[in-house]
Amino acid sequence: MLNIPNAFLPLTHLPLLDMSYVDEAKTINYIKPEIEKRDGYMVTQNYYSGSCSFNQSTFMKKLNQRFGATTADYLKFTPCSYYHWHADILRNCAINVLIEEVPDSVTIFKEQITRLSFNTMVCDYVPRQFVIFNTSVPHCVINSNKTKTRHILTITLPKAVKFEELKDYFATTSDFDDGI
Ligand SMILES: [Fe+2]
Repeated sequence: MLNIPNAFLPLTHLPLLDMSYVDEAKTINYIKPEIEKRDGYMVTQNYYSGSCSFNQSTFMKKLNQRFGATTADYLKFTPCSYYHWHADILRNCAINVLIEEVPDSVTIFKEQITRLSFNTMVCDYVPRQFVIFNTSVPHCVINSNKTKTRHILTITLPKAVKFEELKDYFATTSDFDDGI
Protein backbone atom coordinates (compact mmCIF):
# COMPACT_ATOMS: atom_id res chain seq x y z
CA MET A 1 0.00 0.00 0.00
CA LEU A 2 1.29 3.42 -0.89
CA ASN A 3 1.81 5.79 1.98
CA ILE A 4 3.39 9.21 1.88
CA PRO A 5 3.64 10.10 5.56
CA ASN A 6 2.50 13.52 6.65
CA ALA A 7 0.94 14.55 3.35
CA PHE A 8 -2.51 15.31 4.78
CA LEU A 9 -4.61 14.85 7.90
CA PRO A 10 -8.43 15.13 8.04
CA LEU A 11 -9.63 17.02 11.13
CA THR A 12 -12.46 14.62 11.89
CA HIS A 13 -13.15 16.10 15.34
CA LEU A 14 -14.12 19.52 13.92
CA PRO A 15 -17.63 20.37 12.65
CA LEU A 16 -18.09 20.43 8.87
CA LEU A 17 -17.88 23.75 7.00
CA ASP A 18 -21.24 25.54 7.05
CA MET A 19 -23.36 25.10 3.91
CA SER A 20 -23.46 28.89 3.36
CA TYR A 21 -19.85 28.73 2.16
CA VAL A 22 -20.78 26.14 -0.48
CA ASP A 23 -23.06 28.70 -2.10
CA GLU A 24 -20.42 31.42 -1.79
CA ALA A 25 -17.70 29.23 -3.37
CA LYS A 26 -19.93 28.50 -6.35
CA THR A 27 -21.08 32.08 -6.97
CA ILE A 28 -18.12 34.31 -5.99
CA ASN A 29 -15.94 35.94 -8.68
CA TYR A 30 -12.59 34.31 -9.42
CA ILE A 31 -9.30 35.78 -10.62
CA LYS A 32 -6.80 33.93 -12.79
CA PRO A 33 -3.38 35.54 -13.16
CA GLU A 34 -1.31 33.82 -15.83
CA ILE A 35 1.86 34.70 -13.98
CA GLU A 36 2.02 36.66 -10.75
CA LYS A 37 5.03 38.02 -8.90
CA ARG A 38 4.89 37.75 -5.11
CA ASP A 39 7.71 38.14 -2.61
CA GLY A 40 10.23 38.13 -5.46
CA TYR A 41 8.98 34.83 -6.92
CA MET A 42 7.16 34.35 -10.21
CA VAL A 43 4.10 32.36 -9.27
CA THR A 44 1.72 30.68 -11.69
CA GLN A 45 -1.66 30.21 -10.18
CA ASN A 46 -5.01 28.67 -10.76
CA TYR A 47 -8.30 30.51 -10.32
CA TYR A 48 -8.68 31.99 -6.81
CA SER A 49 -11.32 34.21 -5.25
CA GLY A 50 -9.12 36.80 -3.50
CA SER A 51 -11.77 37.21 -0.81
CA CYS A 52 -13.96 34.99 1.28
CA SER A 53 -16.43 35.62 4.10
CA PHE A 54 -14.87 32.73 6.05
CA ASN A 55 -12.12 35.24 6.96
CA GLN A 56 -14.59 36.70 9.47
CA SER A 57 -15.24 33.35 11.19
CA THR A 58 -14.23 32.40 14.75
CA PHE A 59 -12.05 29.69 13.21
CA MET A 60 -9.97 32.24 11.31
CA LYS A 61 -9.76 34.61 14.28
CA LYS A 62 -8.38 31.79 16.46
CA LEU A 63 -5.82 30.80 13.80
CA ASN A 64 -4.74 34.44 13.44
CA GLN A 65 -4.28 34.74 17.20
CA ARG A 66 -2.19 31.58 17.34
CA PHE A 67 -0.16 31.73 14.11
CA GLY A 68 -0.29 35.33 12.81
CA ALA A 69 -1.51 36.46 9.39
CA THR A 70 -3.79 33.72 8.10
CA THR A 71 -6.15 34.11 5.11
CA ALA A 72 -8.87 32.09 3.42
CA ASP A 73 -9.61 31.92 -0.31
CA TYR A 74 -11.56 29.70 -2.65
CA LEU A 75 -9.86 27.90 -5.53
CA LYS A 76 -11.71 26.56 -8.52
CA PHE A 77 -10.72 23.89 -11.01
CA THR A 78 -12.74 24.05 -14.19
CA PRO A 79 -14.14 21.01 -16.07
CA CYS A 80 -11.57 19.03 -18.10
CA SER A 81 -8.57 20.71 -16.45
CA TYR A 82 -5.29 19.68 -14.89
CA TYR A 83 -3.30 21.79 -12.42
CA HIS A 84 0.29 20.69 -12.84
CA TRP A 85 2.53 19.00 -10.24
CA HIS A 86 4.08 21.52 -7.87
CA ALA A 87 4.97 22.27 -4.25
CA ASP A 88 3.71 25.63 -2.97
CA ILE A 89 6.35 28.35 -2.79
CA LEU A 90 4.67 30.77 -0.42
CA ARG A 91 3.51 28.34 2.26
CA ASN A 92 4.49 25.02 3.79
CA CYS A 93 1.05 23.88 4.78
CA ALA A 94 -2.58 24.82 4.42
CA ILE A 95 -5.97 23.86 5.78
CA ASN A 96 -8.20 22.82 2.87
CA VAL A 97 -11.86 21.96 2.52
CA LEU A 98 -13.41 20.28 -0.53
CA ILE A 99 -16.63 22.20 -1.09
CA GLU A 100 -18.55 19.31 -2.66
CA GLU A 101 -17.87 16.01 -4.37
CA VAL A 102 -17.21 16.25 -8.12
CA PRO A 103 -17.02 12.84 -9.86
CA ASP A 104 -13.76 12.22 -11.77
CA SER A 105 -11.88 14.99 -9.95
CA VAL A 106 -9.03 14.38 -7.55
CA THR A 107 -6.08 15.89 -5.67
CA ILE A 108 -2.99 13.64 -5.67
CA PHE A 109 0.37 13.70 -3.84
CA LYS A 110 3.48 12.01 -5.26
CA GLU A 111 6.90 10.86 -4.15
CA GLN A 112 9.66 10.02 -6.57
CA ILE A 113 10.95 6.42 -6.70
CA THR A 114 13.12 6.45 -9.84
CA ARG A 115 13.65 9.05 -12.52
CA LEU A 116 10.38 8.19 -14.23
CA SER A 117 8.35 6.38 -11.56
CA PHE A 118 6.49 7.70 -8.55
CA ASN A 119 4.27 6.55 -5.73
CA THR A 120 1.03 8.48 -5.57
CA MET A 121 -1.62 9.00 -2.92
CA VAL A 122 -5.05 10.57 -3.29
CA CYS A 123 -6.02 13.20 -0.74
CA ASP A 124 -9.08 11.62 0.88
CA TYR A 125 -11.27 14.69 1.09
CA VAL A 126 -14.74 14.36 2.58
CA PRO A 127 -16.88 17.29 1.40
CA ARG A 128 -16.89 20.22 3.89
CA GLN A 129 -14.40 18.49 6.22
CA PHE A 130 -11.28 20.46 7.24
CA VAL A 131 -8.00 18.80 6.20
CA ILE A 132 -4.43 19.80 7.08
CA PHE A 133 -2.63 19.72 3.74
CA ASN A 134 1.17 19.53 3.42
CA THR A 135 1.77 21.84 0.45
CA SER A 136 5.51 21.13 0.55
CA VAL A 137 4.80 17.60 -0.79
CA PRO A 138 4.39 17.69 -4.61
CA HIS A 139 0.71 17.59 -5.54
CA CYS A 140 -1.60 18.18 -8.49
CA VAL A 141 -5.32 18.51 -9.18
CA ILE A 142 -7.12 16.75 -12.03
CA ASN A 143 -10.71 17.56 -12.83
CA SER A 144 -11.76 15.19 -15.60
CA ASN A 145 -15.44 15.91 -15.09
CA LYS A 146 -16.84 17.28 -18.33
CA THR A 147 -19.33 19.72 -16.82
CA LYS A 148 -18.70 20.28 -13.09
CA THR A 149 -16.22 22.65 -11.45
CA ARG A 150 -14.24 21.52 -8.38
CA HIS A 151 -14.04 24.09 -5.54
CA ILE A 152 -11.68 24.13 -2.55
CA LEU A 153 -11.59 26.48 0.44
CA THR A 154 -7.91 26.97 1.22
CA ILE A 155 -6.52 28.60 4.37
CA THR A 156 -2.98 29.96 4.07
CA LEU A 157 -0.80 30.19 7.18
CA PRO A 158 2.52 32.04 7.52
CA LYS A 159 5.34 30.19 5.75
CA ALA A 160 7.12 29.45 9.04
CA VAL A 161 4.24 27.19 10.11
CA LYS A 162 4.98 23.55 9.27
CA PHE A 163 2.62 20.57 8.92
CA GLU A 164 3.78 18.95 12.18
CA GLU A 165 3.17 22.13 14.19
CA LEU A 166 -0.34 22.47 12.79
CA LYS A 167 -1.04 18.81 13.48
CA ASP A 168 0.11 19.17 17.11
CA TYR A 169 -1.98 22.32 17.53
CA PHE A 170 -5.22 20.65 16.38
CA ALA A 171 -4.46 17.54 18.47
CA THR A 172 -4.21 19.56 21.68
CA THR A 173 -6.06 22.88 21.36
CA SER A 174 -9.33 23.68 23.13
CA ASP A 175 -9.79 26.74 20.85
CA PHE A 176 -12.67 25.12 18.97
CA ASP A 177 -14.48 23.37 21.80
CA ASP A 178 -17.27 25.94 21.50
CA GLY A 179 -17.46 25.66 17.69
CA ILE A 180 -15.80 27.13 14.63
FE1 LIG B 1 -0.62 23.76 -4.35
